[in-house]
Amino acid sequence: MKTVLITGCSSGYGLETARHFHAGGWNVVATMRSPRQDILPRSERMRVVALDVTNEDSIAAALAACGPIDVLVNNAGIGLVGAFEAMPMVHVRKLFETNTFGVMAMTQAVIPQFRARRSGVVVNVTSSVTLAPMPLAAAYTASKMAIEGFTGSLAHELGAFDVRVKLVEPGYAPSTRFAHNTELRVGDLIPEAYAGFAGPIFAGFATPEMVTKETDVAEAVWLAANDVSGQLRFPAGPDAVALAQAS
Ligand SMILES: NC(=O)c1ccc[n+]([C@@H]2O[C@H](COP(=O)([O-])OP(=O)(O)OC[C@H]3O[C@@H](n4cnc5c(N)ncnc54)[C@H](OP(=O)(O)O)[C@@H]3O)[C@@H](O)[C@H]2O)c1
Repeated sequence: MKTVLITGCSSGYGLETARHFHAGGWNVVATMRSPRQDILPRSERMRVVALDVTNEDSIAAALAACGPIDVLVNNAGIGLVGAFEAMPMVHVRKLFETNTFGVMAMTQAVIPQFRARRSGVVVNVTSSVTLAPMPLAAAYTASKMAIEGFTGSLAHELGAFDVRVKLVEPGYAPSTRFAHNTELRVGDLIPEAYAGFAGPIFAGFATPEMVTKETDVAEAVWLAANDVSGQLRFPAGPDAVALAQAS
């Protein structure tokens, strides 16, 4: 029986992905900063483990607690929306600590066991903004673009050891906690000069033509984790699939 470790399982895509792999018969290590067992199925195959991807001690402790894993899903991430000139660099750096360096640190921590066993899969959750960068998300897009390049390169490097590295690129899901998981209020990051430009963009967020569901992302992660072909990218959700086809 295979074991998957997923980061950021307290809500949204990570929570649904943990449920999906459990329903598929896998052992699941559902990690989150503040562990909550009650949101996941009670089962011998479901373990909830504390993990903050920005803290290397926390990463080491979580991996020591869960034993060998077959698949790592780097899902944890935070958002940051607003005009780039108004974004305090301290928040841009925090964004990269989670979305970019957190993914790299988690990946680096599991490579030795995957390489030694000549098996294993790393699935990195980025975003459809990497397929079509959108305004008012420059830092966020950059944090995810960095992981796209990282993943593409690493896929070659670890392919030499039969370790697979994949990308899941979800579209926009207003139903997750993502829009609220920023320390900054969006209004603070839209200077007056940008108000007319930002208004229609935010109106588009409020009434999207197509949205991604948590189940779309869970299914895409499942496909990526089980894929034995050389396919790198797995867009998730109708909006992401449309962007991938257009790009
Ligand atoms: N929703 C969208 O529209 C959308 C679109 C494209 C891509 N994505 C990406 O999809 C992924 C999941 O997002 P979501 O929409 O499911 O949002 P979400 O509901 O806010 O879930 C994000 C998860 O990341 C966790 N997290 C944040 N910082 C962390 C850290 N330092 N260490 C460990 N966990 C941390 C959060 O846990 P806490 O409870 O501890 O805060 C939460 O469980 C993210 O990588 C996001 O960038 C989202």
